[in-house]
Amino acid sequence: MADYETLLVEQRGRVTLITLNRPQALNALNSQVLADLIAALEAFDADETQGCAVLTGNDKAFAAGADIKEMSDQGFATMYGSNFFGGYERVTATRKPVIAAVAGYALGGGCELAMMCDFILAADNAKFGQPEIKLAVTPGMGGSQRLPRAVGKAKAMEMCLTGRMMGAEEAERSGLVARIVPLAELVEDAVKTATTIAEMAPLAVKANKEMVNAAFETTLTMGVQFERRLFHGIFGSDDQSEGMAAFVEKRPGKWTGR
Ligand code: CAA
Repeated sequence: MADYETLLVEQRGRVTLITLNRPQALNALNSQVLADLIAALEAFDADETQGCAVLTGNDKAFAAGADIKEMSDQGFATMYGSNFFGGYERVTATRKPVIAAVAGYALGGGCELAMMCDFILAADNAKFGQPEIKLAVTPGMGGSQRLPRAVGKAKAMEMCLTGRMMGAEEAERSGLVARIVPLAELVEDAVKTATTIAEMAPLAVKANKEMVNAAFETTLTMGVQFERRLFHGIFGSDDQSEGMAAFVEKRPGKWTGR
């Protein structure tokens, strides 16, 4: 397994656990974190032994945002010219599911990175926010688009305009997180949840992820058509025959990923 400067990566069975590891900077997301994250996610996506990933931080911070110290001296030409943050498109292009396990601060780019994952599990001490306005800037990694889709316009607008943080309970109530887990159990719960997913038939996992994500990109009619075509397509897989035969024969399915 590769070594990364800013991440710890380990495999737990079919689950890849990726831990952001810049605790001295509350896991602020600098260019090295992005490069490491892309490399780790590409390795995970390409590894047939792995079915689901968990992305986490530490008890105090998932990530307290993009690295302000790295950005402070930049100007328009360098930001626009280098398409700063454009690399995060590679994160959302991961085809297998990634669960964000968030404890502590998920602010700015940290909140945005969590929202790029397929769903968020939150520790009871999690705090989400888009405080960029306090730095006289705006979200730049998708927060102004993904937050309203998750929690609706009113809360998203209030959070972006005031920079206030949202605690775990409000985040769950608002649909930003799937579930709240006690802090001490967060990573184990996330790995267990990821293991459940990783033990499903791999093609069905990819197809489910792809079609739920399509709901945010298209009209209802086109989305339902897309779903139906993928649903029809999956009947071309060996695992579909096996899954339905296993149900009828009252035994667990054995997947080949074909
Ligand atoms: N970038 C760089 N360094 C950061 C950082 C960030 N986003 N957040 C925290 N750090 C650093 C601090 O500078 C500090 O380093 P030093 O010890 O070298 O001074 C260290 O992490 C610990 O932080 P604090 O001492 O501030 O810890 P605290 O417990 O007192 O406060 C906090 C915690 C409220 C989260 C506070 O650190 C904070 O407000 N951080 C910035 C949050 C923020 O504005 N995030 C948005 C960034 S912009 C962005 O993300 C743009 C985008 O859309 C992608």
